[in-house]
Amino acid sequence: MIDVDTAFFHSWFRNYVKSFYTEDPKIQQNIRLKEEHTLRVCTEILQLGKALNLNKNALRLAETIALFHDIGRFEQFKTYGTFDDRVSENHATLGLKVLKATAILSRLTKTEQTIVYKAIEYHNVRKVPDNADKIIELHSKLIRDADKLDIWYVVTNYYSERYRHRNPALELELPDTPEYSLCFINDILNNRVSNSHDLKTFNDMKLLQLGWLFDINFAPTFRYIQQRRIIEKIITALPDTDDIQKIRNHLKEYLEKRISARSNEG
Ligand SMILES: [Fe+2]
Repeated sequence: MIDVDTAFFHSWFRNYVKSFYTEDPKIQQNIRLKEEHTLRVCTEILQLGKALNLNKNALRLAETIALFHDIGRFEQFKTYGTFDDRVSENHATLGLKVLKATAILSRLTKTEQTIVYKAIEYHNVRKVPDNADKIIELHSKLIRDADKLDIWYVVTNYYSERYRHRNPALELELPDTPEYSLCFINDILNNRVSNSHDLKTFNDMKLLQLGWLFDINFAPTFRYIQQRRIIEKIITALPDTDDIQKIRNHLKEYLEKRISARSNEG
C-alpha cells in the first residue's frame, strides 16, 4: 500500500463518522469520544511501530488497522446506545461487517486485507490465537498495545475529571460503591488478565484496566506506561486498602522487570 491509500482511508473515516453526528449532546459526545480515540490510536501505533523499527509498509498497514479497529463502535452506539459488548454485540465483528459491506479495503492486496481484517478481529479477544500467522500476530499485538495506551489515557483523565462531568457510557453503568471483587485482586497478583464478565462494580473496572498490563506485548509500550504514570493514576482512583497497596506494589515490580529485561523488541 502507498501513502495515498492511508490519506484516502482517513478521509473516508472522517466522512463515515460524520454521518453519525447528531444534535443530541449525549450521543454526539460518545461518537466524538470514539472518533478522537481512533485518531489518537493511529498516533500511538505509529510511535510504537517506529520505536520497533517497522518498515514504511508495515507502518501504513498498522495505521490502517488503528483507523478501522473501532469502526463498529459508531453503529454500535447508534443501535444500542452503549459500548458494552456484553449487552449489545461484539464491536470488532460489527466493524468487519461495515468494512466488508463498503469494500473500503478493496484498494489493498488480498494479503493486506486479510492482515487488516484479522488484526481487527483479534484486537479485543482475550488472547491472540497461538497459531496465527506471524505478520497477523505482529499487527494484532501492535493494535492491542496502542489501543490500551489510549484507553488508559481516556480513563485516567476521566477518573480525575469525573466529579465534573459524568459519562455513564464510560462506566458501563456499573455501581460506584466502595466495593471491589476479590477475583480481580487475585488475577493481578497472579499476573492474569481478568474476565470482563466478572465486573460488578466501577472499582472492578479500574482493576480490570490495571490487569491489562499483563497483556502488553512490546518493550516501548512498558516504557510509555511508566513515563505516563498509568498505574499510579488508576490506583489513586481506588480505595486505600491493603489489597490495593499489595497490587500496586506487584504491578510496579512487574513493570520495572519488563522494562529492565533485556529485550530484542526495541
Ligand atoms: Fe479502540
